[in-house]
Amino acid sequence: MAAPQSDVLRIEEIAVDDSEDLGSIAFVTIDRPDKLNALNAEVMSSLKDMVSWVENTDSIRVVVITGAQPKEAEEGKRAKPNAFVAGADITEFVGKKSEDIRKMFAENAVEALWNITKPTIAMVDGFALGGGCEVACSCDIRVASDRSRFGTPEINLGLIPGYGATQRLVNLVGYGKTMEMVMTGEMINSADALKWGLVNHVVEPEQLYQFTMDIAKKIGTKSTHTLKVAKQTIRTALSTGLEEGVAIEAEAFASLFDSEDKEIGVSAFIGRHQAKWQHK
Ligand code: COA
Repeated sequence: MAAPQSDVLRIEEIAVDDSEDLGSIAFVTIDRPDKLNALNAEVMSSLKDMVSWVENTDSIRVVVITGAQPKEAEEGKRAKPNAFVAGADITEFVGKKSEDIRKMFAENAVEALWNITKPTIAMVDGFALGGGCEVACSCDIRVASDRSRFGTPEINLGLIPGYGATQRLVNLVGYGKTMEMVMTGEMINSADALKWGLVNHVVEPEQLYQFTMDIAKKIGTKSTHTLKVAKQTIRTALSTGLEEGVAIEAEAFASLFDSEDKEIGVSAFIGRHQAKWQHK
C-alpha cells in the first residue's frame, strides 16, 4: 500500500539496510513551515491516515516524525524560525466551544500516534510548543537539535495542554517541572530539556538527521515481534504498580520463549552470526 501523502504531511520510506530486505523507516514530515508546522485540522487528519497506514504496512518498522525546515525568506522579509511544531493552529480556536473541541478529540491524532505499536522517534529541530511538545512526548524517543525549544504556552491563551502533556510530561520530567512548564508557559532550551529528561539526545543541527536515523536503523534491525512486546511491556509501567508491572514483564518474557525469534537470536549469539529474524 502506498504511503498516504497530503499537502501538509509528507512520508518517505527509507530502507533500514540496503543490503538486506529489512523493510523501511517511515520518515514523516509535518509540512506547514510558514505557520511553523502548526497542527491544523488537515495535519491532524493526515497524521491519523499515516498512523493507520503504518499499522497496516508490515514493511514499516520504525516511524520518525519531524517538522519541515523553513523556506528561504522572501525578499525584504525575515526568515521564519526553525520549528518542529509550534502547537495547535491557534487560528482554529476562534469561536470554538467545548462541544466542538470534544468532537475534535473523538478523532484524536496525538492519541493515535501514542498508540502506534511500532517504535516512534521525534526528530526536533526548533520550536516544539504546545501540541508540538505533545506530539514529541507521544513518541517513544526524542532527539533534538541544540537550537530547539520546548514549552507548553497554553496558559497564555487561557488554556491548558489538551493532547496529553499534563500526563505524559509528568512521566518524562516529573511533577514539579511539569507544574512549572504548564503554569509559567515558559520555554526551556534543549540543554535543560536534556537535563530534565524531556529528550534523549541533543546534537548539532547538521548531525540531527544522521544521528536520528542511526537510532531508527539500529532499532529497525531487531525482530518486529520482540519490539512490539517490549513497547507494550514498558507502557505497562505507566499505568500499573511495580508488583503488577513486574509480573506482566515476567509473563511477556516467558511468552517470548515460544517465539521463533528467541531461537534465532540465541543461536545467532552462540554461533556468532547475525540473527535473521522470522519477524523482519
Ligand atoms: N498557530 C497558528 N499559527 C502559528 C502558530 C500557531 N500555534 N505558531 C506560529 N504561527 C504562525 C504565526 O502566526 C506566523 O504566521 P504569519 O507569518 O502568517 O503571520 C508564523 O507562524 C511565524 O510565526 P511568528 O510568530 O511570526 O514567529 P516568531 O519567530 O516571531 O515567534 C513563536 C515564534 C513560536 C515564539 C511564536 O510563533 C509563538 O508563540 N507561537 C505560538 C505558540 C503557542 O502558543 N503554541 C501553543 C498553541 S495551543
